[in-house]
Amino acid sequence: MFKSIRWRFILIYFLLVFLAMSIVGMFIMTKLQQIQVDMSSKNMEARIKSILASSTALQEDDWKQVTGEIHNSINNGIQIGYDENIYVILNDDKKTIIAGSIEGTEGQSAYNLNKINSYILTKSLEGNVESIVPKELYDNSTVVNNHMSYPVYENVNGGGDLKGFIYLTNNIEYIYETINESKKIITQATVIALLLTVLLGLVLARTITGPIKDLTVKAKLMSQGDFEQKVEVKSNDEIGQLGSMFNYLIDELKKTVSNLQQEKSKMETTFKYMADGVLTVDIIGNIIHANPVARQIIALTDDGENYDVVISQICKSISLLNLKQKNFHGSDILEQNGQTYKVDYEPFMNNKNEIGGVILLFKNVTEQFRLEKMQKEFVANVSHELKTPITTIKSYTETLLDGALSEKTIAEDFLTVINSESDRMSRLVSDLLKLSKMDFEQANWKQEKIDVKKMLIDACKKLNIHAKNKNIEIHMGNIPDDMNIKFDKDGFEQIILNIAGNAIKYTQDYGNVWVSANKENKNIIISIKDDGIGIPKEDINRIFDRFYRVDKARTREMGGTGLGLSIAKQIAESHNSKLLVESEVQKGTEIKIIIPEYEVYEVFEV
Ligand SMILES: Nc1ncnc2c1ncn2[C@@H]1O[C@H](COP(=O)(O)OP(=O)(O)OP(=O)(O)O)[C@@H](O)[C@H]1O
Ligand SMILES: [Mg+2]
Repeated sequence: MFKSIRWRFILIYFLLVFLAMSIVGMFIMTKLQQIQVDMSSKNMEARIKSILASSTALQEDDWKQVTGEIHNSINNGIQIGYDENIYVILNDDKKTIIAGSIEGTEGQSAYNLNKINSYILTKSLEGNVESIVPKELYDNSTVVNNHMSYPVYENVNGGGDLKGFIYLTNNIEYIYETINESKKIITQATVIALLLTVLLGLVLARTITGPIKDLTVKAKLMSQGDFEQKVEVKSNDEIGQLGSMFNYLIDELKKTVSNLQQEKSKMETTFKYMADGVLTVDIIGNIIHANPVARQIIALTDDGENYDVVISQICKSISLLNLKQKNFHGSDILEQNGQTYKVDYEPFMNNKNEIGGVILLFKNVTEQFRLEKMQKEFVANVSHELKTPITTIKSYTETLLDGALSEKTIAEDFLTVINSESDRMSRLVSDLLKLSKMDFEQANWKQEKIDVKKMLIDACKKLNIHAKNKNIEIHMGNIPDDMNIKFDKDGFEQIILNIAGNAIKYTQDYGNVWVSANKENKNIIISIKDDGIGIPKEDINRIFDRFYRVDKARTREMGGTGLGLSIAKQIAESHNSKLLVESEVQKGTEIKIIIPEYEVYEVFEV
């Protein structure tokens, strides 16, 4: 309870008021008592003086001689108050009482009478008026009397021998009763003051602690992430300023947090949708963050998995220990799920500017690797394809120069070979040029309306001579007349010549080739089918690759370079068309060309 400022305030106020009231009360009481007792002593002294003045017997020099008169003047001559007692004491050795307001005291030694204080009596022997207020106990009750011993000299003005003493006691209980009453009043006043203090303390403490409490509650809500807090500023004092500062702080914090959240959300969205995998791992191997791509690459299922446990099953070379040895800086290649990833890693710093962990970036380089490989293969293929005819031409030319030129028949044979090899080289170079043009989209396609039937018949006529050489029959199917496509004429002819040329080339003598066309869902489907050698299953997907030939040695003999189908495919694709292959070894091959039909748009004049 006293831990709260409110109660401490009240306690301090309480103690302050209590102490102040007690000290003031005690001071006043003591002073009051003293003043009252002093007043009583002064009255007693005046009373003794008046008794002395009124009694002639007491003015006598020798009190021994006038004891009877003294007795009379005391017991009958003067009025004795109910609260006072008076004794006339002779200054002899015994200090004999010669007259007393209490009967039976006369003749006794003052020292023996317990109603007389021997101390002041003895002290007044020195000639001074002495008084005392002793605590006395008579008959089990406390009696408070003021005692006064007044020395009387022979000479009224104080000269001569000391005759004796007038001893007066005066009951001053009324003083103590008054004091006690006053004490009660002061105590009551103190209690009331303390009650008021507590009440006022409560009110005052509330005005101070109320805003602090409000601040505390709102700061707590703020710590739980609720920034919609504002405190009411009621004054311009220190507490009011604290409230204003809190409001300012919360506004600034809100802005900062919202900026941070915006940045975080931007970062998260970037990480989420970026094509590369991002993985953040702390220095002890806990995975802090993994974007969806990274999760998929390293097959991360649960959050909070250990990096080493996950990565040890995939690629040990990027284990945490290995990364540490390279100061968390470098790159590696990871093969996973048939894909190739380049893993770049860099350390990140923590708030103490020490390495806090490592960020790994997984970049899918499968396509890049494939292209690089293709490029290398392509260069190797081109060199190889060019080298063979060049070697042949060179050796034949050398033989001719060495003397074979003089033998006409040999020379003619050699020159024929040189000629055909040159044709082959020229074909190869022209094919490559075509492909290269298409690669760089520099081929000028002149798209026009083409009558498919007419084009197929013309192409077959051109191929007939080759077919006849092998006794292959070309069967033209029943092709409808109204089949038109929008295509480049030369390009279309090249596709047909390549595909139908292959059909003849890869079909044994006396085989068959069927050429047909039909419409299907706004597409023209041209089919070129043979009953030739067919293509093994594993090669089907590759026959459109540049330089790819199923049986390299044999096809080269036939004069092929392996570029025909890739050119055909590229032309088709640039005309929104595609090629499909179906083939079975020793049974035959069918290649379908699917081209969108030419659509006629009628233009109405408005
Ligand atoms: N109808 C077919 N029957 C069997 N194999 C075929 C057929 N068509 C193509 N092929 C196979 O596909 C390969 C690639 O054909 P492509 O037309 O691209 O090259 P090529 O005929 O060898 O040479 P080019 O056409 O450049 O003179 C051929 O080498 C052959 O092995
Ligand atoms: Mg070919």
